[in-house]
Amino acid sequence: MNILLISGSTREGSLNKSLLDAVAEEAHNLKHQTTSLSRQLASFPLYHFELEEDAAVQNQLSLLRQQIEAADVILISSPEYNGFLSPHLHNIFTWASRRAAGKSHSVLEGKVVGLFAAAPGPFGGVRMLPRLSSFAADHGCWVHPRYVAVGNMAAKTDESGQLTCSETRQKLRNLISQTCKMAEPVQIAEPA
Ligand SMILES: Cc1cc2nc3c(=O)[nH]c(=O)nc-3n(C[C@H](O)[C@H](O)[C@H](O)COP(=O)(O)O)c2cc1C
Repeated sequence: MNILLISGSTREGSLNKSLLDAVAEEAHNLKHQTTSLSRQLASFPLYHFELEEDAAVQNQLSLLRQQIEAADVILISSPEYNGFLSPHLHNIFTWASRRAAGKSHSVLEGKVVGLFAAAPGPFGGVRMLPRLSSFAADHGCWVHPRYVAVGNMAAKTDESGQLTCSETRQKLRNLISQTCKMAEPVQIAEPA
């Protein structure tokens, strides 16, 4: 499967970026390919309607659409900010929800999505995840009903940010493989 990785945090040293690095490693171990959302899209301006006419923003938007269209599965890891998803991630969804000219639906429609979160605190973003799940479903995504919230993330990584907790890695593998299964074409047996 082609997996698109989206971090809700764009900052250097982000815990969610570290978690997505581990997600990418585990996805490769499971024989999937991964691509990260382009760095160009980290500077996407906050959405408003008039910006849709801006040539530079149109380039960013078409890159975003291409990356989403090319993905069989999208795996997202977002920080929790006051119980909600990050403003950056919200903005990415808002831009991606805009239909391209001549299209009847957005590129998000029908995309299979798996959700992760990392936080320095003990709960790992668990208040935000069901909200993100419902938010993504409202955009037409098919969201895996379970998610992985990694609390005390700093204690589970080494000094280079590498996830060292084997139990957490097992949870990542489980959610990656189940989410990829959701994206396999449904096999309907012919009636006998
Ligand atoms: C405005 C603000 C609100 C936050 N709210 C929460 C929260 O509700 N739950 C939580 O676990 N952490 C919260 N945090 C802490 C973030 O989880 C922490 O900054 C985290 O490292 C951000 O993710 P990142 O490392 O991927 O950038 C908040 C941080 C900020 C700055």
